[in-house]
Amino acid sequence: METFYGYDDLIKHFFSKGQGHLFQHWNTLSEDERKSLFEELKSVDFALLTELQSLATSGHTMHDTFEPAPYISLKAGTDEYLHARAVGEEHIRKGKVAVFVVAGGQGSRLGYEGPKGCFSIGEVSGKSLFQIHAEKIVKYSRKYGVSIPWLIMTSEANHAATVGFLDKNANFGIPRNDLFIFSQGMVPSLDLDGKLVLESPTKLFKNPDGHGGSLTALKSSGVLRKLIERGIETISYFQVDNPLVKIVDPVFIGVHILHKAEVSSKGIPKTGPGEKIGVFVSYPDGTMGVVEYSDLPEKQANETDGDGKLRFLMGSPAIHLFQCAFIDKITSVGAINLPFHVARKKLKVWEQGIISEKEGLKFEKFVFDSLPLAKKSIVFEMRREEEFAPVKNLTGIDSVESSRKMMSDLYKEWLRKKGIEIPPAVEVVEISPLLAVEADDLPAIALPNQKKVYLA
Ligand code: UTP
Repeated sequence: METFYGYDDLIKHFFSKGQGHLFQHWNTLSEDERKSLFEELKSVDFALLTELQSLATSGHTMHDTFEPAPYISLKAGTDEYLHARAVGEEHIRKGKVAVFVVAGGQGSRLGYEGPKGCFSIGEVSGKSLFQIHAEKIVKYSRKYGVSIPWLIMTSEANHAATVGFLDKNANFGIPRNDLFIFSQGMVPSLDLDGKLVLESPTKLFKNPDGHGGSLTALKSSGVLRKLIERGIETISYFQVDNPLVKIVDPVFIGVHILHKAEVSSKGIPKTGPGEKIGVFVSYPDGTMGVVEYSDLPEKQANETDGDGKLRFLMGSPAIHLFQCAFIDKITSVGAINLPFHVARKKLKVWEQGIISEKEGLKFEKFVFDSLPLAKKSIVFEMRREEEFAPVKNLTGIDSVESSRKMMSDLYKEWLRKKGIEIPPAVEVVEISPLLAVEADDLPAIALPNQKKVYLA
């Protein structure tokens, strides 16, 4: 036992909790490495571990009774629409809106080395996702004569690369004091027997705690406090991989304010029962939520109403508005924590000097689990073609290809709306967000008759 000197209590504790395997290589470690492993293991939260282990065996609990959630649709140009827009614009002009992109994911499906936000998506310009988001903020700031804070959530694995990328590019025009970059929490992964695993001799295998970790990270980083002190009331939340998103949508913001909602969500009609997107539901207690596609029983996913329309029609593209006060409330000490969801994934684990792939369990929180905590939550219908083109894969559905095509199609729609002629040779159009974030921003211009056109 001499070699365990100074670490006995910790080691005994881990053995008593069935996690003694983490010390199998103890005798091969140097004193410094033992100290590192000790530091790493000291932070293990055994109450959380017990929660994760029970999730591993039973799965997450769900409400079993729910109905399709009601949703609000507004026809462009109607009085109601214009009123909502005016209310939203006033809110933006008063400097009450911040933009929040969650960018801590691992982007495994895309297979891109580096933060997904650095991925070049502009078909003609080659602009990255981060640049497109940043330039939209710059444009909205100019339009409304106000500074709009940009919040970016990263994770341990991509924080330094994200900061480095933005730094190198002068934050794409966002003033330093309007930029808030902070990392989300990490959560240990487990093997299929509920045991902790290592990624190196001295580090546990962990994964980012899901986009649901964003609300806690906002609070624990101190950013939420700073925003509230700055007079921000509304946070416009979206995912880094959607270049089409209207990051500051005055109509949506207006509807959110007029309904006094704590959380508002955009909804899009599903393309069919099999589309892999969560659906908005309402629960018997009057609250709303999202049921993940994998949790929606097939029978309900296929149910239609009298017109043949899906009953659970409204899908969630993960675009929300949160009241700062709501986030503050639900992340306060003693407030309800969002639940973890479990997924079976391949983990690259370190065992006895060898790294190998092993089936294991990753745990994540989902941001939409905050919806049922809201006293008032609404769903606002949007047009998919105008604002949802996620980049999840290289090709096929929700891919680089489909996203670029949707961008070009939307930009052509703007040109037509403004009566700008599209010459016959033009196949691809890209419009810089600095020029326009909606059709009405476009100046009268003549397009060159060439295959790819970039308007800036
Ligand atoms: P996805 O669930 O699509 O995950 O994240 P992903 O990591 O981007 O891609 P895959 O599944 O590994 O291929 C949706 C959004 O949530 C963010 C992502 O960065 C993306 O904007 N996210 C996800 C986080 O910020 N943190 C997480 O822990 C998970």
